[in-house]
Amino acid sequence: MDARELKAEAARIALGHVESGMRLGIGTGSTAEEFIRVLGAKVGEGLKIVGVPTSERTASLCRALGIPLSNLDETPELDLVVDGADEFDPALNLIKGGGGALLREKIVATAASRMIVIADASKRVEALGRFPLPIEVNIFGRRATEIAIRRAAEELGLSGELKLREKDGEPYLTDGGHQILDASFGRIPDPRALSLSLHAIPGVVEHGLFLDLADAVILASDAGVETIGT
Ligand code: A5P
Repeated sequence: MDARELKAEAARIALGHVESGMRLGIGTGSTAEEFIRVLGAKVGEGLKIVGVPTSERTASLCRALGIPLSNLDETPELDLVVDGADEFDPALNLIKGGGGALLREKIVATAASRMIVIADASKRVEALGRFPLPIEVNIFGRRATEIAIRRAAEELGLSGELKLREKDGEPYLTDGGHQILDASFGRIPDPRALSLSLHAIPGVVEHGLFLDLADAVILASDAGVETIGT
């Protein structure tokens, strides 16, 4: 199976966890889009759910497929969120934000009682950090924030390139109007310490370490589909 088929397989299994009446967070990225497609088909067959999208991109696709949408102001508590990830470790801690939606993804995941991650085998790592860590920063004072991030990382023994994400030759802007620095720190031995240090920097809006949020990962590989966690 190619990567897309593996993602679709994981998405189909995740759909089995969606029950009628659920308030459902809906993730962002190519894997989440496979889920949105099967969800849309099920809604067409009569499944009653209300979805809270984690990005404008996801919202557009949901609308096109007729999935009823709400937001966290109208629906502040969710039963389940299904989302992709850039990496997950054995403790089901994640790196997310490769698609630029990390802030809304984290807000939605925190509002949900349960988070299911759908992934193919390329996302599984022993320790987080192979994928550059996305750090969403306020535009104001970005260079100063960058220096503060570098210092905080160095105190934890981490160093590496901080690259301003671009799109079409311009700084990439998130749905919230912020920029993203992709931090190539390499292996992150203590994600919790890094999370705390980054949150202490005022210009950091959010970072892509999702710690203690995922309950289960539905992992599709050529060997079959495996559910890790509960
Ligand atoms: C979006 O901001 C991300 O967190 C995605 O969930 C993550 O990048 C996974 O994307 P893919 O499913 O496209 O690999």
